[in-house]
Amino acid sequence: MSEREPSVHDLGGLDGAVLVFGGPYSNLEAAQAIRAEAARLGIPPARTICTGDTVAYCADPGATVALIRDWGIPVVLGNVEEQLGAGAADCACGFTPGSACAELSAQWYAHAEREITADDRRWMAGLPRRIRFTLGGRRLAAIHGGASRINRWVFASTPAAEKLDEIALAAAEGARLDGIIAGHCGLPFADVVAGQLWCNAGTVGMPANDGTPRVWYALLTPERPGVIAIELRALTYDFERTAQKMRRAGLAEAYARALETGLWPPVDILPPAEQAAAGRRLAAVRVRWGLAERSAAA
Ligand SMILES: [Fe+2]
Repeated sequence: MSEREPSVHDLGGLDGAVLVFGGPYSNLEAAQAIRAEAARLGIPPARTICTGDTVAYCADPGATVALIRDWGIPVVLGNVEEQLGAGAADCACGFTPGSACAELSAQWYAHAEREITADDRRWMAGLPRRIRFTLGGRRLAAIHGGASRINRWVFASTPAAEKLDEIALAAAEGARLDGIIAGHCGLPFADVVAGQLWCNAGTVGMPANDGTPRVWYALLTPERPGVIAIELRALTYDFERTAQKMRRAGLAEAYARALETGLWPPVDILPPAEQAAAGRRLAAVRVRWGLAERSAAA
């Protein structure tokens, strides 16, 4: 899975708040909720970015992809789109072979393969690995997992040096880069390391393993040149309906329950810090990148 010459979609300079979200994961109700949230906030499709994995665990891969495509927002290539677009045999999520997650992924991947169209696969295959844009004088790139690997797990607890290496790698692709907005790992966080940003926007398709059914997105609001407010915000949606549809489709009970309880099934790729935080209610976060200031909201 070489990323030596990643495809890039450059949005150029954006002139207002940018909404970023990850992993719709075939969760149609959550995808509808984030689209309604963007409309409520007055954020147009041109300033809304999805960090990939439009399909995964839930019951509505076809309808979720149709919604995202109809919305017309820029979408980063996730490992799931890469695999489905290439007609590959599995999701390449990066779970440990033989683990419960690896086994369960075979089931939802087969369901997604049956539900999406040939045209959806072509659309997936054409998605870019990077979406670059300038906001408030800062150069940012939206990616899926890592710059070194599409399915790299980068968590809040991942050492700062590794995040800086990943940012440097993306910067070495040819343009100045001040920060990265990623997806894939499913847990939202915002880290400013040596003045550079690593933000994970979280996912809308699965809760954040915090014991609540809420899902997450990021809002980036330019305040003045060089200063951007990075907010991680929770979103509520009709998770009961989504879980019911999963059960009706015969999909894994473990993930249907996760939508309701806000707790993931045991995941062996979680580092100790993230394991320890499971079930602990996440608070919304507001970081003013460019100023030495961080605050947590309710
Ligand atoms: Fe992923």
